[in-house]
Amino acid sequence: MKTIIEPFKIKSVEPIRFTTKEERKIILQKAGYNPFLIKADDVIIDLLTDSGTSAMSANQWAGIMQGDESYAGSNSFYRFEAAVRKITGMKFIIPTHQGRAAEKILFSVKGGAGKYIPSNTHFDTTRANIEFTGAEAVDLLNEIGKIPEVRANFKGNMDVDQLESFIREKGAENIPLCMITITNNSGGGQPVSMKNIREVKAVCSKYSIPLYIDACRFAENAYFIKLREPGYENKPILEIAQEMFSYADGVTMSAKKDALVNIGGFLAMNDEETAMKSRNLLIVTEGFPTYGGLAGRDLEAIAIGLEEILEEPYLHYRIRSVEYLGEKLLKAGVPIIEPPGGHAIYIDAKRFLPDVPPDQYPGQSIVCSLFLEGGIRSVEIGSVMFGRYDENGKFIPPDMELVRLAIPRRVYTQSHIDYVSEVVIESFKNRHALKGYKIVYEAPMLRHFTVKFEPID
Ligand code: F0G
Repeated sequence: MKTIIEPFKIKSVEPIRFTTKEERKIILQKAGYNPFLIKADDVIIDLLTDSGTSAMSANQWAGIMQGDESYAGSNSFYRFEAAVRKITGMKFIIPTHQGRAAEKILFSVKGGAGKYIPSNTHFDTTRANIEFTGAEAVDLLNEIGKIPEVRANFKGNMDVDQLESFIREKGAENIPLCMITITNNSGGGQPVSMKNIREVKAVCSKYSIPLYIDACRFAENAYFIKLREPGYENKPILEIAQEMFSYADGVTMSAKKDALVNIGGFLAMNDEETAMKSRNLLIVTEGFPTYGGLAGRDLEAIAIGLEEILEEPYLHYRIRSVEYLGEKLLKAGVPIIEPPGGHAIYIDAKRFLPDVPPDQYPGQSIVCSLFLEGGIRSVEIGSVMFGRYDENGKFIPPDMELVRLAIPRRVYTQSHIDYVSEVVIESFKNRHALKGYKIVYEAPMLRHFTVKFEPID
């Protein structure tokens, strides 16, 4: 078998600034050991997120020049709307400046105190937007999805039995909608099977609860279905995506992921009343319904990105290049969530640093080590991001302690990824020298963005 090469050539490049380990020590300390507070110019390989970091194609850049900047009824809006409708089939399509803006509007309309929103796993902004309205966000991931070292095809699946008991327990009238996140970002970028989406929909229908898909990485999810689910091996990605969305009553999407753009998103649904209420809020917070906080050129780039993302050579390279990094790490004994996810490798910090307890943030310790060793920026998805305190101030850690190496789309080459694996393996070899951290500042919500640490001696 031949090497799977990047299915593109590079027309425009950005320089990388190299730093020394001594410089990185100071940079890290100044940033309070929080990668979100490091200047991008001080980063060698940036794996903080795959969101808004894609390289756009020549075609998308050409589309940028075609953007129609009319306030109302812009051509670019209709092109965007047609592209979203072709894939999702939704009746009402509302542009937003990014995914969380769609969430904010949806949950302002549907949330509120006493309500529950179940999901396989809510992303942090989704959870925050639900909780902001006084509603409760509930994760009902299947058990296998919680065990990093066990390989399974669809570890993002929702536990359908648990969903049904949950609805019975809380009452369908208190559950305004159910969500399913594809792929499951917080649970390791793991896909959800078509069968699971279908079964979740059946339970939702039984209790007349609308199903919304958080579609950030829908194309990666569709490709995994093609690779792993019987009956889909010969289906085009577009058809698989259309079937996934056929089970949904609504969609939230951050176009910064699988629409290959640097900004944008949308909220879509079939229910007219929800759409009217959402549009009214959109006008207050985002803008007129034919631009929703975006420029016409952004809508144009999304429309083109949504076509490019469905190309199989792209998805083949995409999924394989993430898997390639995963294989290199596994070969060196580095514990990761298996199998590798669609957009990222997730290091299992509990097994990487078994002696650092959750309240000393083992994931954060690895994040700092990767930056120090090689200028790689990653992010902790564990006790820093999802840790909570109970009424008595006791710390409650989440199920998993992870470090995410998110791979931006079409940005890094195989040699960049080889370098990443070398740095991670080096950190792993030196793991016995890594220490825990303590928090010296934290915000009341989404604390990981601004938190500051000090190493524990
Ligand atoms: N849902 C999922 C599954 C996400 O991964 C994200 C963003 C959002 C919603 C919110 O979208 O950023 O456009 O407002 N995830 C990024 C990440 C930030 O790094 O995983 P947004």
